[in-house]
Amino acid sequence: MCGIVGYIGHKDAYPILIKGLKRLEYRGYDSAGIALINGKTRTYKCKGKVSDLETFIANQDKSGNIGMGHTRWATHGEPNDVNAHPHISENGYFTVIHNGIIENYDTLKKELISNGYSFKSETDTEVLSNLIEYIFLSKKEITAEKAVRYALSKVIGAYGILVAAKDETNILIAARKGSPLVIGIGHNEYFFASDATPIVEHTKSVIYLDDGQMAIVERDNLMLKTIQNDVLKPEVTEIDINIESIEKDGYDHFMLKEIFEQPIAIKDTFRGRVSKRHQRIYLGGLHKVLPKINNAKRIIIIGCGTSWHAGLVGEYLLEEYARIPVEVEYASEFRYRNPIITEDDVVIAISQSGETADTLAAIKLAKEKGATVIGVCNVVGASIPRETHAGVYTHAGPEIGVASTKAFTAQVTVLTMMALMLGRERGNIDAKLYMEMITAMSNVPKNITKILEQSDLIKKIADKYKDASNFLYLGRGALFPVALEGALKLKEISYIHAEGYPAAEMKHGPIALIDEKMPVVVIATKDKSYEKVVTNIQEVKARKGVVIAIVTEGDQIIKNLANHVIEVPKGHDSIIPLLAVIPLQLISYYIAVARDCNVDQPRNLAKSVTVE
Ligand code: M6R
Repeated sequence: MCGIVGYIGHKDAYPILIKGLKRLEYRGYDSAGIALINGKTRTYKCKGKVSDLETFIANQDKSGNIGMGHTRWATHGEPNDVNAHPHISENGYFTVIHNGIIENYDTLKKELISNGYSFKSETDTEVLSNLIEYIFLSKKEITAEKAVRYALSKVIGAYGILVAAKDETNILIAARKGSPLVIGIGHNEYFFASDATPIVEHTKSVIYLDDGQMAIVERDNLMLKTIQNDVLKPEVTEIDINIESIEKDGYDHFMLKEIFEQPIAIKDTFRGRVSKRHQRIYLGGLHKVLPKINNAKRIIIIGCGTSWHAGLVGEYLLEEYARIPVEVEYASEFRYRNPIITEDDVVIAISQSGETADTLAAIKLAKEKGATVIGVCNVVGASIPRETHAGVYTHAGPEIGVASTKAFTAQVTVLTMMALMLGRERGNIDAKLYMEMITAMSNVPKNITKILEQSDLIKKIADKYKDASNFLYLGRGALFPVALEGALKLKEISYIHAEGYPAAEMKHGPIALIDEKMPVVVIATKDKSYEKVVTNIQEVKARKGVVIAIVTEGDQIIKNLANHVIEVPKGHDSIIPLLAVIPLQLISYYIAVARDCNVDQPRNLAKSVTVE
């Protein structure tokens, strides 16, 4: 995915665009570019980060009250200066920035080549800019808007685009299909961005473009239409993001800030939903689909990456307490395998960003087949909550670090609430146990704070093993997906190979890897599998492996066995995944810092994957 920003108004566009690009850099960071329009269009672009672009432009003419900017995550063509956006059409009539993929770009490119066009870059976006221009030049007396509309009618794929036209320098045209685009409304000025974070410091009033919509925007006027040219009434929404939540706030990295924000983020996830006083858990967003869930023959949870791991934790909890059969699938597999879905199925789609292309496509497929689809999403107003029948926002606040942390615990919190609420409604949890669980949930934020207080100890452990080539993570039951999540965190930000395994599976293969150089992180809290996990630790130690154990506070048995222990407070089994993941996040963070890795922007990754 990429990030796009735009501005049209009376202020200097450049500072707004460059700051906006910095806010969106988490979406892609292999090259960046800006176009400034001041009667004529000037374009600057280069390989590298937004800061490289800033240096590159430092001594250039930065004037203009209209402009657009782009930060790229390469799909078509390697990251280099030429492939960076904006892309200008061959004869200079149109300038385009684009987030998404034009799937039929090759066919369109061949047609354009046969009509005399040549191409400088390897991108699908240059094809779009030339297609718009070709239509503009070959039809008589056509407006830029019409040319964009005709071009988009020929395009297959996903896009969020901004287009500037040489002959109409007082407008910007925005269009969306499959890739998000938000328009902020100021006083005689408009702001454009892939998400609301670059807009929030200028205005709180926004319009979220829907799929198939385009906006033709002048300084003091916005016309919203469908791509088929039907005029629409814009729906203006007020965004609820404060500026502090998108700043680092004194932390070295967004990831560290987001790890430390988890007690507050989880409180925000609970707010108005878990009440000790009323002895009740209630998720209002599910109200209208509750009968469907209660009668569901099966729940299918879909998601990708960390969201999929949260889904696996949810599987254990929902089966244990709601007693409804649950399957968990990668959205990317589910959508391509003609799954058997009926109207009796409830699908829960989990996504931090609400924009992951595979999850969105899987939702559409499940809906086509008649299932009721529920979204568990963090970003308010994103595509997934708009596509689902009902849903629960996680309310964890903006997550900027590419490695997901607080979004995971917020997702697991929602799934835990769901499991307990359904368990109680369906008569599987008696009043006493229900109260115990509500108390346990309410204590999660303060218990996470206790774990965060051990960050110095965790940093020391991380420093000791920063040069390991491999790590193994083990856990059982609902803690197995937590082991998977620990391994994913380490891989993505420190580039150390790591695998998560159910602890009992170790002896079926991975045990062969263990030697004195192999750190094994074992989640060994006191639950019904405790003795078995102790045995697994002994098996690792017998082969000279290094054991870093996550244990229940006061555990002496494992203290005597393991090389290092990190304690988590005691709590009901249902909430231990929320606690056990915190040391794993910190281990990864400190190892990545010790290895001098770019924690917030790991190589090759982007925050959300809006391509298939
Ligand atoms: O926005 P989503 O939750 O749909 O994103 C899913 C994955 O791309 C995401 O969790 C990814 O695995 C993270 N980088 C993990 O830290």
